[in-house]
Amino acid sequence: MGTPSVNPRHWTLVGGPAGDEVALLLSEDDETGLRVAWFGEWSGGAQAAPIHHPRRQRWGARLDAASPSAMWSGEGGAPISAPALQYQREGGGWTFVPRRIEVRVPDAQRLEVVQTDDAAALVLVISFHLDAATGVLEVASRLSNPGTDGVTVGWCAAVELPLPYWADHLLDHAGDWCAEFQRETRPLGAAGLLREVREGRSGHAHPAVLVFGDGVPGALGGRVLGMQLAWSGNHRERVDRRPDGTDVAQLGMLPLGNELKLAAGASWQSPPAFCAVSRQGLDGLAARFSAACRSRVLPPSGQRWPRPVHLNTWEALYFDHDMDRLEALAREAAALGVERFVLDDGWFLGRRDDGRALGDWSADPKRYPDGLGPLIDTVRGLGMRFGLWVEPEMISEDSELYRAQPHWVRGEPGRPALFGRKQRVLDLGQAQVCDHLFAVLSDLLEAHPIDYLKWDHNRVLTESAGAGGPGHLAQVAGLYDLLDRLRSAHPQVEIESCASGGGRVDWGMLARCHRLWSSDSNDPVVRARIMAGASLFAPPEVLGVHVGPARAHTTGRVTDVDFRAAVALLGHFGLELDLLELDVAERQRLGAHVQRYKRLRDLLHSGRHATPVFDEDHLVRIVTAPDRSRAVAIVLRLDDRRPGLPVRFTLTDLDPALAYRLTLSEPLPEADRRPAMLVGAGDFEPPGMVVGGAWLASAGLTLQLPAPQSAVVLELQACG
Ligand code: DGJ
Repeated sequence: MGTPSVNPRHWTLVGGPAGDEVALLLSEDDETGLRVAWFGEWSGGAQAAPIHHPRRQRWGARLDAASPSAMWSGEGGAPISAPALQYQREGGGWTFVPRRIEVRVPDAQRLEVVQTDDAAALVLVISFHLDAATGVLEVASRLSNPGTDGVTVGWCAAVELPLPYWADHLLDHAGDWCAEFQRETRPLGAAGLLREVREGRSGHAHPAVLVFGDGVPGALGGRVLGMQLAWSGNHRERVDRRPDGTDVAQLGMLPLGNELKLAAGASWQSPPAFCAVSRQGLDGLAARFSAACRSRVLPPSGQRWPRPVHLNTWEALYFDHDMDRLEALAREAAALGVERFVLDDGWFLGRRDDGRALGDWSADPKRYPDGLGPLIDTVRGLGMRFGLWVEPEMISEDSELYRAQPHWVRGEPGRPALFGRKQRVLDLGQAQVCDHLFAVLSDLLEAHPIDYLKWDHNRVLTESAGAGGPGHLAQVAGLYDLLDRLRSAHPQVEIESCASGGGRVDWGMLARCHRLWSSDSNDPVVRARIMAGASLFAPPEVLGVHVGPARAHTTGRVTDVDFRAAVALLGHFGLELDLLELDVAERQRLGAHVQRYKRLRDLLHSGRHATPVFDEDHLVRIVTAPDRSRAVAIVLRLDDRRPGLPVRFTLTDLDPALAYRLTLSEPLPEADRRPAMLVGAGDFEPPGMVVGGAWLASAGLTLQLPAPQSAVVLELQACG
């Protein structure tokens, strides 16, 4: 037992379902100051309780006294650690050691910590909101400058949390175009982590997320902590391993150069970070993030249900738009049960390839002599809704817009322009640029019954916005404002966010959009792996997955339609292939898969999803209805690195007191692609057998799928 601390005070927020609560504890005493003492699992029920408040260790080469606050510490305080606030004041001054600290309690689920450093003339307010229902913690910081001159902020974390003592592994997510959300686990070494993403968007390479495990994070069990930043621009993740064991993780948006300036009297609000812990491994973490995303982040739910079957024209046509072909494609799509027809890139003024016309958002008169109206009429006449691809933030030098407004483009005077996909970036920091985009897009949406925009973003930001500075923050602010204006002017229109696939998958976009295009890889093996990673952070109904052509355009891998369609059940199901090339049997089969998706989508998109198996060879996704009366198991054999090895899994979200009837979902796999056995509870006997929920949760199922790239979908229905 250490010596009692001096005058301890504490504050507690508790949230999450009964029996699975989490808590945020703030503690303060006269010696060690204020700090976040704990964010993690909590056994104390909803009741706040006094906490153990150990004294500061004095041994070792440490400073004699701690600063009054060890939260979001700045330069110049103690203990010395990675500062969560870095700034430079014009008249001098760069340290932040607040002496006046106030903890406010707006309500039972919120705390606000107001830290004032009079010498620095800065006030930092940190707000915590622990959601009672989900236990997900939302944290943001707000910095104000009551001083008489300006400050340039180099870094102000949205969140800094102490790592729980058990967090000794990092589950990282890295990726690239067509390879988003690849997982990598490693021990959290003594060096910690400092990572910065400077793509001008959340990015393919490293989404703004951190996941820690008690050992290697597993799907079903074990303690995990996840953090994600709701921000679509540059970001920084930092893990600081302190010698005294008070390790912290920080997450925040990353200002470049001098772009985050606070004039005298000004304030700045960070984007929020969302943090969750689970005792039930990655599936528990995914469940918490999904629930919070559904209830607190997504645009109002009215428009979201049920998620319509898409046809996207990209891999069917690329830039080769032809009215007869498009109409034939639309007819075929409608016959298959497609509900939304999305016209991708290639429809606008002179757009024959990716080298021209971005910025000219009017129909190409050669391909669409009467505008988009006739095609939209055809699509709607066939009973489908119409969606349109745009890439508003970008501009081609070969465009009417560039010729008229060359100064609207980002770039530094005196330096050669940098191109990505042959295009440049509009400066959304200029109000007239955003006004122009709003007017053009609004006109399109008013002129035609367009229900959906696919909003793309196909290059990274590199250059400054003119001579004034990087302008990356202003770019994201301009984007958010534009999206918000469009959504309020056209509330019936849904928006899909895309950035060369999954280059902007984050909750900043999700707060404004209805769907994220998770990757350009329609190779089902690659896509299934991407979905396993991405589904940790967002619910499946917002992550688009399409049935692509038999031979995947990005990898050349050939797979059958049953497998591709089963993979598309992992998210928001769509089609992206040339339906006119399919033979009759393939068309019928695809139609049957569309029907299955429609039959299952309410469950797939409202249930609790779990991924009990994700290894080199298999991926198993289970979705269980909130009332536990139904479940679906999507069992995918991705590879055969260990040929013949069966896959075993449990269904832990079912009601152990109930029995469930298991059926192979229609359309049945071809006879030679059916699972060879379902052992444990007896061999599988279509049309159905009855197994207890307790058995399924404990002993589970064993299936042997015959071949790589085969799939089986099981449906479970409670029957007493
Ligand atoms: C990149 C997207 O990810 C694709 O789906 C497609 O829309 C192309 N851009 C069009 O240029």
